[in-house]
Amino acid sequence: MLRIHGMEGLIHRQYFATMVPVLLILMGALATLQADVLSHQKFLLLPPVNFTIKAIGLAQVLLHWDPNPHQEQRHADLVYHVKINAPQEDEYDTKTTESKHVSPLHEGFAASVRTILKSNRSDWASSWVSAELKAPPGSSGTSVMNLTCTTNTVTRSHTHLRPYQVSLHCTWLVGKDAPEDTQYFLYYRFGVWTEECQEYSRDALNRNTACWFPRTFINSKGFEQLAVHINGSSKHAAIKPFDQLFTPHAIDQVNPPMNVSVEIKNNSLYIQWEKPLSAFPGHCFNYELKICNTKNGCAQMEKLITNKFISKIDDVSTYSIQVRAAVSSPCRMSGSWGKWSQPIYAGKERKPWVEWHLIVLPTAVCFVLLIFSLICRVCHLWTRLFPPVPAPKSNIEDLLVVSEYEKPSNETKIEVVQCVEEVGFEVTENSMF
Ligand SMILES: *[C@@H]1O[C@H](CO)[C@@H](O)[C@H](O)[C@H]1NC(C)=O
Ligand SMILES: *[C@@H]1O[C@H](CO)[C@@H](O)[C@H](O)[C@H]1NC(C)=O
Ligand SMILES: *[C@@H]1O[C@H](CO)[C@@H](O)[C@H](O)[C@H]1NC(C)=O
Repeated sequence: MLRIHGMEGLIHRQYFATMVPVLLILMGALATLQADVLSHQKFLLLPPVNFTIKAIGLAQVLLHWDPNPHQEQRHADLVYHVKINAPQEDEYDTKTTESKHVSPLHEGFAASVRTILKSNRSDWASSWVSAELKAPPGSSGTSVMNLTCTTNTVTRSHTHLRPYQVSLHCTWLVGKDAPEDTQYFLYYRFGVWTEECQEYSRDALNRNTACWFPRTFINSKGFEQLAVHINGSSKHAAIKPFDQLFTPHAIDQVNPPMNVSVEIKNNSLYIQWEKPLSAFPGHCFNYELKICNTKNGCAQMEKLITNKFISKIDDVSTYSIQVRAAVSSPCRMSGSWGKWSQPIYAGKERKPWVEWHLIVLPTAVCFVLLIFSLICRVCHLWTRLFPPVPAPKSNIEDLLVVSEYEKPSNETKIEVVQCVEEVGFEVTENSMF
């Protein structure tokens, strides 16, 4: 720069008073000169020093470096260009000397950084410095598989830091190469909060395969990613941990709308409901209404943004009404529909009666059958206790016939039983039709 000023002085002394056009030309030349100086400095642009990568939380690293002490810091345009190489490529510029990054860490983490000088003509860059975080030990077959998690708003609390409590439920499969004595442990991180699972469900070999947090620090309105980390231990092998990031809106199960009510007035259904238990205010919801009837099934589906609906009905059908909700896009990236509310019935012929008939009829039939089987048994007993006694006969011929008749008492029993069974069957048939 000094050199330039010196030349500027020289220029001024020689030509200033003479020709303005020449001055303009020379100003152009000056710019070229400056560019030359910059290109000279390209070779002096030095990479940062002491570049380190440190895990500072679940699925979270801190990249830190120091400015090169030999770098002249005269340029306000000096920035750092960070490049993430693994597990997923990413790059960005920053003016600070550290940067936080959220990423699964079970495959390790690698990044590079260099100094760059942004000018309006082109960018000059130093060489790269790189650092890495090694993958944790263990073969990948020992890690858990198919991890899925869902969140749900459970209660409204007046005492807690957050007005609404969010639960978390995760399930996974045991790694295919995990020894039988493997035990897994789940942790989650949301923002600065990290918690270990306290309520596990186990498989037949007593290995944890699901976890339930009745309440968490997760904010369902938050945009941060939820990090889930599952590590494990075994006497026979190193168990490789597993990290997965979840976007809260994608895994949030919206509750069904509350207090659904139906009223029939002038051949219309007046349906109303309240927003689901949720941290989001009422205007954040879309609703879907399902009206089914006994005549033509679930013919009516309505997409609504209000919490009221009026539907014309006929006189003969029974209607069942269900509503479900989803958070809409101005409030949050729209997720999937929540669960349907419990059906509410309305109309002429009450559905519970239909169900009632379905229970009563088979019960009655069973009862009748039972009575007849009882009668049957009693008859059986009767024939055993009192074998049929022949009526007294006067002549010898007749007696002979009777004694023959008496001998096979078994046959007689069978005949009686058969008779009762036939009667029973007929009666049952009659009672059914
Ligand atoms: C680099 O790290 C070393 C050791 O921690 C430290 O002494 C040195 O001052 C650091 N360099 C810079 C430029 O901060
Ligand atoms: C687990 O995930 C794999 C790959 O994503 C899939 O092929 C498999 O069907 C899943 N297993 C179960 C039981 O869901
Ligand atoms: C699992 O991870 C947690 C959190 O990082 C750590 O405190 C714990 O010691 C780890 N357990 C095993 C068995 O590696």
